[in-house]
Amino acid sequence: MSARKPAKAVKDVVEAAAEKVADVLTPDAPGAPGSAPPPVAEPTTPHGPLPPKGEQGAPETRSPTGAPTTANGQQGAYLTTSQGARLRDTDHSLKAGPRGPILLQDHHFREKITHFDHERIPERVVHARGTGAHGVFVGYGTAESITRAGFLAKGRETEVFVRFSTVLGSRGSADTVRDTRGFAAKFYTDEGTFDLVANNMPVFFIQDAIKFPDIIHAGKPHPDREIPQAQSAHDTFWDFVSLHTEAQHHTMWNMSDRGIPRSYRMMEGFGVHTFRLVNAAGETVLVKFHWKPQLGVHSLTWEEAQLLGGVDPDFHRRDLYDAIEAGAYPEWELGVQVLPDTPEETFAGIDLLDPTKIVPEELAPVQPIGRLTLNRTPTNFFAETEQVAFHVGHLPQGIDVTNDPLLQGRLFSYVDTQLTRLGGPNFSQIPVNRPHAPVNDMLRDGFHQQAVHAGVAPYRPNSLDGGNPFPAGDAEGAFVDVTVTVAQAPKVRANPASFDDHFSQARLFWLSMSPVEREHIVRAYTFELGKCYHQAIRERQLACLANIDPVLCAQVAAGLGLPAPEPTVPLADVAPSPALSQVGREWPADGRTVGIVVDPDAGLDGVGRVRRAVLAAGMVPLLIAPHGGAVGGLPVQRTFATGRSVEFDALLLAGAPVPAPDALPARDEKAGAPGPAAVDPRVLLLVQECWRHAKAIGAWGAGVAVLELAGVAGTPGVVAGDSGDDALAAVQRLLAAHRVWERFPVSLP
Ligand code: HEM
Repeated sequence: MSARKPAKAVKDVVEAAAEKVADVLTPDAPGAPGSAPPPVAEPTTPHGPLPPKGEQGAPETRSPTGAPTTANGQQGAYLTTSQGARLRDTDHSLKAGPRGPILLQDHHFREKITHFDHERIPERVVHARGTGAHGVFVGYGTAESITRAGFLAKGRETEVFVRFSTVLGSRGSADTVRDTRGFAAKFYTDEGTFDLVANNMPVFFIQDAIKFPDIIHAGKPHPDREIPQAQSAHDTFWDFVSLHTEAQHHTMWNMSDRGIPRSYRMMEGFGVHTFRLVNAAGETVLVKFHWKPQLGVHSLTWEEAQLLGGVDPDFHRRDLYDAIEAGAYPEWELGVQVLPDTPEETFAGIDLLDPTKIVPEELAPVQPIGRLTLNRTPTNFFAETEQVAFHVGHLPQGIDVTNDPLLQGRLFSYVDTQLTRLGGPNFSQIPVNRPHAPVNDMLRDGFHQQAVHAGVAPYRPNSLDGGNPFPAGDAEGAFVDVTVTVAQAPKVRANPASFDDHFSQARLFWLSMSPVEREHIVRAYTFELGKCYHQAIRERQLACLANIDPVLCAQVAAGLGLPAPEPTVPLADVAPSPALSQVGREWPADGRTVGIVVDPDAGLDGVGRVRRAVLAAGMVPLLIAPHGGAVGGLPVQRTFATGRSVEFDALLLAGAPVPAPDALPARDEKAGAPGPAAVDPRVLLLVQECWRHAKAIGAWGAGVAVLELAGVAGTPGVVAGDSGDDALAAVQRLLAAHRVWERFPVSLP
């Protein structure tokens, strides 16, 4: 290799392989970075931009004022400036001689660097870490009697963009932290955009929006050291929630398995607040919105969540995009709990304006009104996921807000923060935010104005623009501000007395859990409080737990080495809500990941067949082998060095591979796991971790011996099949329950 031109030497080697396409393995596992496999050599024949990948979608091309238009992406075969001038070279700046300084006249250099210098925008003040996808919503028509919203009509299709998120972490934080998840959906209806800005938990920490900065300041990293990132296991969080006890119900949800979802595809969504619907006759009902995932509600274990934070911090993002790419489109049913619109705004004694309370489904069933399918990933993360702007006030006719004081504050907050985050008042003209309904709003000018408004009279009334735009009436589908009588009352900074009950529904949630879910809640409280520095905060939170349940309080106190305090309020007499538990039902396994350990030296009997069967069942098979490349013509996706149990929902063992040449702790610490020398120690670790996390494990042929060596043979959820088909069928049955729950011994009733 020449010392002066190392790049040239690499080029020569590469050109020798010019015709070779690197991706000979044509992996059918999702996750390929581009829409065409890259050649080894740099392509030099000009051609237009590659098409997006098959699973990618983009915001529908609309003008800034909602009219259909043409493409938004880059064009042509040649590199240009932002003004369209073609460029010869973007590898060298214009210099006064090869060793001289860069010239100020180098416009291409300055444009490129200046634009780059301004590529970042402020991240969201909350929910900064998120992941978006496009989809379609189809109405069932079942809501037609309660709302005039057209998009809920039977068979009506509406484009949707959804963004899932964590709340506390910054944009680059890990996906699997313990936190509430956002579930924000933008419906581009032809009557104006509807944003359902929801969470995966049906209650919120606070009752009044004026406390939002307080709870978020408490949950974010400590201001002095800026730690810990993206978690609630620290003093300021528990300081606040133990003092501001209306947070206790939401905190209980966060400490439950709901705080560590297995996948965005396996989360419920809740509008939290009560909304008011109005039908064509002007009649109203109160509703709570629910998203019900077709795959059921499932969670990670705490150890899985922690390992994933390091092994794959993008776990949820990858899971969503891989599932869509694999054609396992995530689906949810949208449903409503329908409650009478009475002057008291209560139902079964529950104050419907209090966002720290649920209405148990057993009292008001969730009635399905439509189906959402996410079927396209974004083409450009920044343009779509980062720039999307949701707002609880984006409502079409037929849906209106209530006086919930949290909702009322949100109506102000979102647009206010977006003015800064998106650099001015015209962010509704960014492609992902453009409505699919005609816009004629009389809003004018401002930074980044994209529309070219005609006329001279953006005011009403006018005669100079012929009176346009005109107010619409019922016949034209005008938005309805429902007339609500506000009871005569003094102007006060106060809550209704009903908001004072802070513990009864936290108790309802605890009592609704199965024993294994209760164990997880005890562990989460003990872990989080154990991470607090100050004992005073632990003691104060224990006092709150005493008001929720004495068993819970005693268990957490024991873990903390503190006495369990007595309750200070009578324990609420509440009926459990079985609908809140995640355990005990069966669900489809679409998009689940099945790891298959193979031993290339011992033949691959049945592996290709099992792999195809996993794919045919809508799941993703990942082959795990001693080395990369291919084994027996099949692509290897993970090696013993790169794979980790937390990536898989279930494990199949098709062989008992002997220790690979890199099974040395100095190369891979995982190889230091103790075990019999007959099998690669990393395979044993894989099996033992899967076992510990109560995952289904199947083996056939030589793989059965690994079950013995790992010490798991004959235990619940571990299957030795006569063939690959057999083992897979058994594992699939086990996956329906998500985990082999009986593997977790429980101590609680
Ligand atoms: C029921 C209670 C709440 C729910 C369900 C909720 C949900 C969400 C969700 C899902 C997002 C992320 C949106 C996205 O993906 O872009 C978000 C962002 C945000 N929320 Fe909330 N939130 C709640 C309460 C509040 C309150 C009370 C406030 C303030 C008074 C607030 C202020 C914000 C702000 C400022 C953002 C960032 C928006 C942006 O930069 O685009 N939220 N919220």
